[in-house]
Formats: sequence, structure tokens, C-alpha cells
Amino acid sequence: MVKQEKMKTNPKALGPAELTELFYNATTAELATMGNKICTQVHGRNVLLRGLLEYTNYCVSNCLYCGIRRENRKVQRYRIKENRLLEVIQAGFDRGLRTFVIQGGEDPCYPVERICRLVEAIKQKTRGEAAVTLSCGMRSREEYGEMVQAGADRYLIRFETSDPKLHACLRDGKTLKDRLQALEDTRTAGFQTGSGFMLGLPGETPEVRLENILLCQRLELDMVGIGPFIPHPDTPLKHVKQHPIEDSIRGVALLRLALPQTHIPATTAAGTLQPDGREQMIAAGANVLMPNITPADFKKDYLLYPGKICLDESGIHCINDLSSRVRPLDRELCFDRGDAPRIAGMRQ
Ligand code: 5AD
Ligand code: SF4
Repeated sequence: MVKQEKMKTNPKALGPAELTELFYNATTAELATMGNKICTQVHGRNVLLRGLLEYTNYCVSNCLYCGIRRENRKVQRYRIKENRLLEVIQAGFDRGLRTFVIQGGEDPCYPVERICRLVEAIKQKTRGEAAVTLSCGMRSREEYGEMVQAGADRYLIRFETSDPKLHACLRDGKTLKDRLQALEDTRTAGFQTGSGFMLGLPGETPEVRLENILLCQRLELDMVGIGPFIPHPDTPLKHVKQHPIEDSIRGVALLRLALPQTHIPATTAAGTLQPDGREQMIAAGANVLMPNITPADFKKDYLLYPGKICLDESGIHCINDLSSRVRPLDRELCFDRGDAPRIAGMRQ
């Protein structure tokens, strides 16, 4: 285990004009080299860990791309009981994890009060040492405030695509404007804010891909997660052609150049599309890994896309595997909380 090293330097982010020039003209290898360099300058050799817990796969939404959308009747639905969640969190905490990401579908049986009680229980169990990231769908500004009051630290809402028409079409009429307002609300409520997008959605043009990056920069996000769209056979998008992973690698590198301080995960979707997809993301500027600690008996039913990796094992055991995966990249796993640098300074 290594403690997070002090910030090395504070390199300047590239501006929109430079990012646009690189987006259209640089090779993937050139982008990855630049992204990797800035990443190690800012974040050192550390790869932060976040334990991911998929607590419910019930969802009232019907996003066209998602395997657990409301209308997919083939899904075996589940909700993990709080005491089981806390057992898993205790095991993760004992193994050294200091951030837990509580992620689920938009489940009406998890109103804000229930989420708040869960956050409080996690904080108590981990003596206030672990950070809690919530990814529990869109809520009101007041509800985000209540979750912050309960002790939650971070909130994730991906904007999915920056194209307003495509967004509404893929998300069952829901608007990009509302999604961005929700993100803003999480920030003003006091959360560290995360968002992101998928690459290779049908109808996505190069201009949209570039705008996705520029939007992340304008939003000054603390965390950005991106990954390839992987068509799910039980969704309306089942026949969409799979795009290569390269777009996602280019995306990570450009994001790193746009947002040097931001925490960027090497996502499971990248590891699913290609065995070394997460390593490629780290080598292009990602600095976070998210072992999935959902118990194996539930994990198999949280299939947003097919072929998800590590289905048969506990993510806690995966940590040793992750350690050997990052070593050839001259990186080491880091067990710090990994707050956003703007917050980390205030917490010391
Ligand atoms: N392929 C890849 N990523 C997906 N997500 C949802 N469905 C898919 C898919 N078919 C992503 C979305 C969502 C996150 C939790 O998972 O970006 O926000
Ligand atoms: Fe529900 Fe999220 Fe899937 Fe949309 S992407 S259907 S909101 S779980």
C-alpha cells in the first residue's frame, strides 16, 4: 500500500482550441503519451480505488441503451438489504478501501430518507474514515442537500451524451438541460461532482464526441467516467455496431489534458470490451480503478451491458489482481480516500 504522494505539479489545462486541434489531428499514441505524462505529473504513480456496490437493479427509467431498463422483463430484479450492504462495506474497509460507490437504478423503494440512513450507517461503520459516493439517479436540490447532511461526499450523474436531441431520444424524452441542472444542483448542495458519457452511441458524430470533452471541461467536474457503449441484446439498441475501444482511449487522454486534476476511472466497460481496456485507459491518463464488490449472487443481474467482467468473484479478492495489472504500467494501487484536490486541501 502506498500513501498518496503530494501533488507534484499543477500543469495548465489545454484550452478548447488546443483540444480541438488535437482531437482532429493527433494519433491515439500521441494523445495517450500526453495524457499519461500530465496524469503522472499531477497524480504521481498512484491509482486510487473505489469499491462499487450495485445495491438495486430496479429502475423506473427506460434508457434505450441500458440492460436493466424498465421494459426489460428478462432481468431478475433485486434489492440488497442494508445489513448485507454493510457487511460487504466492512469487508472492503478491512481490506483497505476508503471510498464506496453506492450505485443503483432509479428505484422508488429507495427514497431519500432510506439513502440517508444507509449513508449514516456506512459512516458509523467506517468511523467516518470512508468517503461515500452516491449514484442513485436524479433527485431534487433539497434531497441532495439532505444526503450531504447525512454525510455523503460525492454524487455521480453521467450526462451520457452532450447532443440534446440524441440525449432525449436515448433517454425516453428526458432532457439534457434537466440532467445538467441536476449536476449543478449536486454541486451547490455540497457534493464533489462526477459525470461522464458513453462513446459509440448511435447517431454520435465526431463533433458530439469533441463537445462531450469540452462540456466536461466547462462543468469543471471533480470526477469523469467514460466508456464504450456496448449494445445489450435485450434492448432496442441491440443491432447497433460496436465501436472500437480506441475512441474511449482518445477520450480519456483528451479529458486528462482538459482536466488535469480530475479523477478519471479506467472503467469496467473498457475492460469488458477488451481484456486490457482498463490498462489502456490508465496508460492514457486515467488514475482510478473501481473494483466491483457487489456480492456475486446479485452482480450477475446488474448487466447494463453484456459480458461484464469479474462476475464470478468478489471484487475484494480482485484487488490483488488489480495490483498486478497496474505494476507493468509503473503504477501502484493507492488506498487513500482520493477526494477532489479542491476538497482534499480543506480536509487536512
Ligand atoms: N454500454 C455501456 N455503458 C452503459 N451504461 C448504461 N448502459 C450501457 C451500455 N449498454 C452506462 C451509462 C450509465 C452508467 C451507469 O453505465 O453511462 O450512466
Ligand atoms: Fe435506469 Fe440508469 Fe439504466 Fe437509465 S442507465 S435505465 S436510469 S439504470
